[in-house]
Amino acid sequence: MSEAFRLERGEDGLATLTFDLPDRKANIFTRSALAELEARLTTLAARTDIACLVLTSAKPDIFIAGADVDEIADVTDPVEAEAGSRYGHRLFSAWEALPFPTVAAIRGTCLGGGTELALASTWILVSDRTDLRIGLPEIQLGILPGWGGCVRLPRRVGLLAALDLILPGRPISGAHAARIGLADALLPDADFDRRVRAFALANSGRPARRPRKSGPRALLLERNPLGRRFVLAQARKKTRIATKGRYPAPLRAIEVIATGLARGAVAGFDAEARAIGELATSPQAKGLIYLFRQMEAAKRVGEGATLPAPVRRPAVIGAGIMGGGIAQLVADKAGLPIRVKDIQAAALATALGHAAGLFERRVRRRRLKPAEKRRKMALLQPTLEDAGLESCDFVIEAVVENLAVKQKVFADLARRVPERTILASNTSSLSIDAIGQLAAGRERVVGMHFFNPVDRMPLVEVVVGRQTGRETAAAVAAFARRLGKTPVVVRDGPGFLVNRLLAFYSAEAMWLLDEGLRVEDVDRAMLDFGMPMGPLRLADEVGLDVSAKVGQILHGAFGDRLPFPAWIDRLAGTGRLGVKSGLGIYRYDGRRERGPDPGIYSLLGLSPRRTAPDLAALAERMVLPMVNEAARCLEEGVVGSPGELDLAMVFGTGFPPFHGGLCRWADGQGLAVLAARLESLAGSVGPRFAPSEALLRFAEQGGFAAASLAR
Ligand code: NAI
Repeated sequence: MSEAFRLERGEDGLATLTFDLPDRKANIFTRSALAELEARLTTLAARTDIACLVLTSAKPDIFIAGADVDEIADVTDPVEAEAGSRYGHRLFSAWEALPFPTVAAIRGTCLGGGTELALASTWILVSDRTDLRIGLPEIQLGILPGWGGCVRLPRRVGLLAALDLILPGRPISGAHAARIGLADALLPDADFDRRVRAFALANSGRPARRPRKSGPRALLLERNPLGRRFVLAQARKKTRIATKGRYPAPLRAIEVIATGLARGAVAGFDAEARAIGELATSPQAKGLIYLFRQMEAAKRVGEGATLPAPVRRPAVIGAGIMGGGIAQLVADKAGLPIRVKDIQAAALATALGHAAGLFERRVRRRRLKPAEKRRKMALLQPTLEDAGLESCDFVIEAVVENLAVKQKVFADLARRVPERTILASNTSSLSIDAIGQLAAGRERVVGMHFFNPVDRMPLVEVVVGRQTGRETAAAVAAFARRLGKTPVVVRDGPGFLVNRLLAFYSAEAMWLLDEGLRVEDVDRAMLDFGMPMGPLRLADEVGLDVSAKVGQILHGAFGDRLPFPAWIDRLAGTGRLGVKSGLGIYRYDGRRERGPDPGIYSLLGLSPRRTAPDLAALAERMVLPMVNEAARCLEEGVVGSPGELDLAMVFGTGFPPFHGGLCRWADGQGLAVLAARLESLAGSVGPRFAPSEALLRFAEQGGFAAASLAR
């Protein structure tokens, strides 16, 4: 068996332990890597010829990416999970107790267990590479740092900084790590190895005692029990608000940290292990880990296809809400100059103003330097002319949602740009095949469907038409990732994937209003289910005109399966547009919501009469139609797998991550049970609920996941 660790010792007594997990791009602590480390530790502890030991990685971009997520996903026994944590504690404590100082020399990504081993080292050195990230992201997987991180981090950086790193689970840069004292030094990458050696030689001999964190804030808040209690209470309060009681891990982490500080390291490790036992086997962790794996899979979309050269000269046609947002994103994330074309000067001015506003907000929060803002703004090249498009290699169209207009734009573009230039449409409801109909070279025509607001929504649907080339889709996926988005490939068809499923959900919300339910109860039901926003509030957000139009188009496509109450057209015809006009189903003051508008009922001829409804039953009524339709989407091949569907729903609609996604939620309930519920609703409410053939087939095969595994 090839080994994961290599030990070398020089004449000067300096030894290097290099982690290089065979056949993997990343170093991770698999079971076998840990066993090997354990064996190494036994021999290392007996070495008297080592003055200082440097831990490094042979992987160019990664130091240690953490524990093996697949192994955490598989564990179902709390006792086994707890034992896994205690095993790590023993190993890392043995590392900490080595009879010579240790140096973690971090030159690439260092996460989770990697950071915990670094914390057990005497010294931590990081390179100044700008892409280096170091952190403890376990909370994002529904667990907590379980190999000593909750105990050692506060001792190294203080309570406040430890909470800041552990609770959001967001990794930080090397410079940030050095600033908070997580790293002892930030070294220039160009000279990293030499500087590490010099540091190690200078610090050889017995482990040194680290200076404790000082400064008035640390003294006041962290060194005395009263101050600490205050900090912990604040953290609990903030966490309760942020998690709404749905995610147990962050609160648990606060308790473990508190125990480690108040009762010592041994008690802290013990609390950590017990917490891991419970959290790692919790449904929340399983859902979040499942999503994490889908995200990893999304990074591989398009692998194997021959990619054209990376995008260098992009353009966006149409500088409205979406086009302007996309241009800002390209300048920000890809750092590329982008041509922004519109037929109205006013639209260009608004788009530039909007981009400037987004950058300015980051400047105010000190996340962006004013000079960087100016540099990014200079990348936006507004124009009313077509001249210059000839040199573009990637064009995103975001003009008005009108087929004839889009067809003309594509036909003109196809004549103007080189053959290899990718022509992507951001349409939300029109067919990609139809849009490209008049354009030459249809294999380069594709959908690149962003969600609103572009800077915040993490999903991009890569819409593949009948003629779209494989390379074209792969290029869009790659560009989406470069823009920091998660791509999901979907097939051309009404509403693609996300809007199609959402239409069934919002139609049902409208039907509930029609039955006499109150706006706040309908929305509350979905908030309780875990959605970030209720469906009626969402309709206001999207714009009632846009919602109605999308509803109309999809009703046209799906007919009786997707009926809407008759008053739906009236809703859009009243001039109420939702948030953008200050009045919709709710009232607004600027962007602030002021509660449902009581006038809405009489306007639509409704009378709210059902009080204190069963909110869980209401939520089920709105979620089940999506499950029913999801089965159809999978069977029609609109999306490749339930995992991709789940990722799209979580990233495109905010479907609760702790449920893991729509299909995973449905599998958890049991598809046969849900099919029976649909059958009964079809009888009591209306035939639109009749379970689809596709759903019944998935139910027969034991669920979405089981069926997709069997394929
Ligand atoms: P918008 O109405 O804000 O912007 C459209 C812009 O296109 C206007 O500035 C208009 O002057 C310009 N335009 C019209 N014809 C043009 C032409 N021939 N050449 C250049 N510019 C032209 O529309 P919005 O909301 O930005 O939507 C754009 C596209 O994105 C539509 O296809 C829409 O379905 C899609 N979309 C919209 C979302 C939303 O929430 N607004 C979400 C996802 C997709």
